[in-house]
Amino acid sequence: MRPIIRYTATIAVTAAVALGIAVLVFDTSSAEAQTPATAGSAAPAPAEAPPAAGSAAPGAGSAAAAGSAAAAGKPSIVEVSCDNVTPSATITGFVDTEIATGTIIKFALPPGVDVSPDNPAAAGLELKSGRPHCLRFDKDGTFLAHTASNQHAAFTARQWYDILVNKEVDDLKGGNFWMPKAVNLTADDSDLMYYAVLGLSIFFFFGIAGTVVYFCVKYRHRPGHKPQPSPAHNDALEITWTVIPTIICVFLFYYGWNTYVRVVTPPTKAVEINVLAWRWNWQFTHSNGVQDSDLHVPVNTPVRLVMTSKDVIHSFYAPVMRVKQDILPRRYTYAWFFPTKPGTYRLTCAEYCGTNHSQMGITESGRRAVVVVHEPGGYERYLSDKAAASNNKDPVELGKSLYEKKGCNACHTTDGSARVGPSWKSTFGTTVPLNDGTSVKMDENYIRESILYPQAKSRPGFPPSMPLFEGQLKEREIEGLIAYIKSLK
Ligand code: CUA
Repeated sequence: MRPIIRYTATIAVTAAVALGIAVLVFDTSSAEAQTPATAGSAAPAPAEAPPAAGSAAPGAGSAAAAGSAAAAGKPSIVEVSCDNVTPSATITGFVDTEIATGTIIKFALPPGVDVSPDNPAAAGLELKSGRPHCLRFDKDGTFLAHTASNQHAAFTARQWYDILVNKEVDDLKGGNFWMPKAVNLTADDSDLMYYAVLGLSIFFFFGIAGTVVYFCVKYRHRPGHKPQPSPAHNDALEITWTVIPTIICVFLFYYGWNTYVRVVTPPTKAVEINVLAWRWNWQFTHSNGVQDSDLHVPVNTPVRLVMTSKDVIHSFYAPVMRVKQDILPRRYTYAWFFPTKPGTYRLTCAEYCGTNHSQMGITESGRRAVVVVHEPGGYERYLSDKAAASNNKDPVELGKSLYEKKGCNACHTTDGSARVGPSWKSTFGTTVPLNDGTSVKMDENYIRESILYPQAKSRPGFPPSMPLFEGQLKEREIEGLIAYIKSLK
């Protein structure tokens, strides 16, 4: 037989046999791996759960209470009886503390620590030690207080989901030198592939490099040493170096292909979330219309993202989910994952999209975008509480939250310094110069037009890079932004 035929036949036969074995081995294991995903997807999708589930949860009524308290000008800290209540937290030391808005907090301060408020906003924080006090913080905010011995502390009330979002990310808990611990059901397979390829590469690198060094020493040129004749071929050796790599390649291919198919095929019953990316923010829109620039998802439920971009190419990347998918303008791309552990995880843009690419979705306080995986029931509570909270905000508060949630802060400051766009501070009512040499009064009309059609009257010294917000803001959101700009004296 000619060598070429012999080699080709060896590879073909080995590949066929190895593929057959691979199908036998992995079909059973992949069927097992699929089972939990199917089980999870069969569970009722949380998005369809009745809103009653949310309002029954503790602290759910909070948002509504906050709104009405603010509207009626009532104090935002209310003392309630400690009888028959289960406080959501107990504070035993006078230190800076974060508090979930609307929940009841028990202050059991040590004897002799009497607390007085620093400012009118903190009215209600008068606490005499000696007996426990139960307080409900009805409004978001920072409340300052001091003790008789001049200790100072800040009590910051935030919505419970904002506390989760502001947490330190859990990415680095667990995991190893190479990767954070996976929180996605299908990620274990791709991780295994990664480690398999890494292991093979290390093995062959040292194997080949070692052999080269060994041969260099063994067959080095020495005086009086005659070279031995080279063999023309060696059947046993050739079959070995053909069969073993072929088996490895076929297994890698089969396992990789199998995993890939699973990674790109979401279960049909997934929770769907729409993603819009732009320079420089994320907008996640949930089934009940709630929008946020951080991604909130339920645990143990498949989540499918339907993504598009307003301007350039971005990329959704959540390292613990092992999901990275480009987001393109004028078409939809998809990603899905099955979160297995509640927590707060890193979310970044992985495609260079301009000046603030690395900080896409960053907040004014410097916090980066995150994926929050909620405990069972938490996602439904988030949807209803968040919807209630955004309906109850006064215009300035609403504008201030939109300033971050819509990513205005990526380009506009509120402290007077110029960024990619002009600052919002102390501009209302002034006359600003335009690119065409004319000027315009900065009033409600000009702000409205500049939000919806930013390039209509653009200003010199700033690149025309702001995306259009036409059709993407509700009327009261535009009013909120105008009110916020007006408030920045
Ligand atoms: Cu968006 Cu990089």
